[in-house]
Amino acid sequence: MSQHGETADISVVVNGEAWTHTVEVRRTLADVLRDDLRLTGTHLGCEQGVCGACTVELDGAAVRSCLMLAVQADGAAITTIEGLTNVDGSLSTLQAGFRDAHGFQCAFCAPGFLITAKLLLDENPAPSREEIREAISGNLCRCTGYESIIASIEQVVRSASQADTTEVNS
Ligand code: FES
Ligand code: FES
Repeated sequence: MSQHGETADISVVVNGEAWTHTVEVRRTLADVLRDDLRLTGTHLGCEQGVCGACTVELDGAAVRSCLMLAVQADGAAITTIEGLTNVDGSLSTLQAGFRDAHGFQCAFCAPGFLITAKLLLDENPAPSREEIREAISGNLCRCTGYESIIASIEQVVRSASQADTTEVNS
């Protein structure tokens, strides 16, 4: 990163694509993702680190992009909700699980829940209901759709285990 007064050059990999850009040092990662990269799937709710709607994956960890400065992400690999779709643009198993089990009402919270669920399943492909509850406990849904969100993640786990069984039996 080279600094020029109030701006700095950053290099990041976002959803698999390398990106270098000059950003104002005071701008948040969420604002740069949404306004500069036009990745508006990352939502801004509270902008105070409380709701989790702005959660993105940064080097394998969940971060609140409303609290992080874009310059702090220099050199990182970032995944946003746009990066969860399959290469051909179809819904991933995770996204399809939320659709099929009605994990959304207004869906404002969805980007944060989906990234949180991805990270949970990356680490623990067969979480218990309690582990799912614990993992999503930092994300808020104003439509109080928690039961259906938990059911959605359980649906993804079931789909993955059925796919594994089919593979073994074929
Ligand atoms: S918008 Fe970032 S935590 Fe709410
Ligand atoms: S579905 Fe509306 S905020 Fe969660």
